[in-house]
Amino acid sequence: MKDEAYLRHAELVNKLDEQHDLSDSELKELIESPCEDTDLFAAADRLRRKIYGEDVYIRGLIEFTNHCKNDCYYCGIRRDNEAVDRYRLTDDQIMDCCAAGYDLGYRTFVLQGGEDPYYTDDRICEIISKIRKAYPDCAITLSIGEKPRESYQKYFDAGADRYLLRHETADEAHYRKLHPASMSLENRKRCLFDLKDIGYQVGAGFMVGSPYQTTENYIADLRFMQTLDPDMIGIGPYITQSDTPFRDMPSGSLEMTLRMLGILRLMFPDALIPATTALGTIDPQGREKGFKAGANVVMPNLSPTAVRDKYLLYDEKICTGEDAYQCRGCLEGRVYGAGYRMVCDRGDRRHAPREILKG
Ligand code: 5AD
Ligand code: FES
Repeated sequence: MKDEAYLRHAELVNKLDEQHDLSDSELKELIESPCEDTDLFAAADRLRRKIYGEDVYIRGLIEFTNHCKNDCYYCGIRRDNEAVDRYRLTDDQIMDCCAAGYDLGYRTFVLQGGEDPYYTDDRICEIISKIRKAYPDCAITLSIGEKPRESYQKYFDAGADRYLLRHETADEAHYRKLHPASMSLENRKRCLFDLKDIGYQVGAGFMVGSPYQTTENYIADLRFMQTLDPDMIGIGPYITQSDTPFRDMPSGSLEMTLRMLGILRLMFPDALIPATTALGTIDPQGREKGFKAGANVVMPNLSPTAVRDKYLLYDEKICTGEDAYQCRGCLEGRVYGAGYRMVCDRGDRRHAPREILKG
């Protein structure tokens, strides 16, 4: 019985490796398989090496505001959480983060924040223009939530190149369980397609093990991303935050997150896939294990130390006491220790040649 399960697991991994796709029922079998994923990780690692070699790209993450007008039930900086000490970085503080990051070799800056109405389009464009002028060789990534198409266009014209907006879940009923009625999956998808259409490199993604998530929900996420064709895919375990309505819900597991990373690499061979801070939070070796399962990006924190412990999307978040220099050194050691190479360039998506995809 056990042997049969292993044979079937190997068969599914082989098929996914060769065809970069499976039927819904095959995906369900693989996602629910009782077997270990050694062969899945080996196949994912082989494929990432064919396209990206040993390269792991770094992005400097600047968490510039923890004010948020949204109230997502899973998130620690949701509007109704009164325990949060709210902050905003000034333009000068943001520019200081970029300067420190540039010195450390970072050529991508990710400006991430809650949906904070203080940052009007004009203010965001002003920040983008300053960074663009000071660092013409760097990529500027925004991660500031849902906006009208016109706003996305203005940011793009001001010099932003990339945008991260996790879709969170592609299933309507599941989306409703994670978000208040004021938000909609339809608008989130609209945002992602607008961003692509404008010319951004786009990142989508979801949490693994979020409350009420089913295997069918994962399959919907994978199918949605096949239609979007994102350049980047960010996933990490859901981690309980004790001041949210989901305080009693269990966190997602390391094993399922790694399994999803492996599946994503085989389905989206040339995607940029980070080993996230959340993955490093649920397991001390989480990010190293993530690289070995197919991840090829890390996003060290560049935010000033004084605000790091205020951007707590979930409990026990790592890197809140360290400074930019320490995170750089720490990550470099982890990347090399896992058998990869940390690369200091913009790290654009490398579209896979057809012969590689044919296997
Ligand atoms: N656990 C893990 N990830 C979370 N995020 C928000 N709250 C949590 C949590 N409790 C993720 C969301 C969001 C990204 C910035 O962080 O997927 O898009
Ligand atoms: Fe920040 Fe390891 S990455 S301390």
